[in-house]
Amino acid sequence: MKKEFTVVEARMVAPHVASLTVLAPEVAEICKPGQFAHVYCGGGVYSLTRRPLSISKVEGDKLGFLFHVKGEGTKWLADRKQGDLVDIMAPLGSGCYELPENGNIIIAAGGIGLAPVIHLAQVAVAKGLTVSMVFGARDKDNVYCLEELERLGIPVQVATEDGSVGGRGFVTAPLERALQAEKPTGIFSCGPVPMLKAVVKLAKQYGVPVQVSMEERMACGVGACKGCVTTVKDANGTHYKNVCSDGPVFKGEEVFFDE
Ligand code: FES
Repeated sequence: MKKEFTVVEARMVAPHVASLTVLAPEVAEICKPGQFAHVYCGGGVYSLTRRPLSISKVEGDKLGFLFHVKGEGTKWLADRKQGDLVDIMAPLGSGCYELPENGNIIIAAGGIGLAPVIHLAQVAVAKGLTVSMVFGARDKDNVYCLEELERLGIPVQVATEDGSVGGRGFVTAPLERALQAEKPTGIFSCGPVPMLKAVVKLAKQYGVPVQVSMEERMACGVGACKGCVTTVKDANGTHYKNVCSDGPVFKGEEVFFDE
């Protein structure tokens, strides 16, 4: 669906991270965790000025997005005011997080990879799953929105590279501690590729199924331009899939991490 949706709120949640909330009942009703939107970001050539943004939460008829403000387009988006209209194509992506029917899951997020997993956590809690989370960031300026998880009753362990919040180091440290304490039904992850690679390796080591959301550069967002291809593997070898239309969520064992 492509439509202009009304902005409810846009605000900065960290020095370089913005939150945008829009009223989008048609999308809120059908979107699944892991799906994303292609959002028009002002100026320039219309079709080239969209950004792929994970749908970070769904509350009633509202959709939330979290995104890095790092250029003219995302600055334009972050500057929207209540009542403005923003052109959004959503929901996009056919590979979504698939939750187990019961049990306990661990969500492992890194940096802006927090965005899609807030929606995932909302759905998991509503389904009655026990959810815990480990979150990794560069420093305290990149730790934000964890209160959204706490409101859902989800315990969050934080690791920062400089030790300014939580333990010093990478998210894999609290993840491994959690795996040692109790084997979860599944691990669900989003973050930079080196982190996903480490998470998939740990999941394999502990015999836990893992699903990862890939963050790729996207142009069309709908499988037409082949600008987002990633290598996946199966019993027949390696081949290519579009992150936008086949993903963005893949099974951990399927992703080829340049091994
Ligand atoms: Fe065009 Fe994925 S962004 S094929």
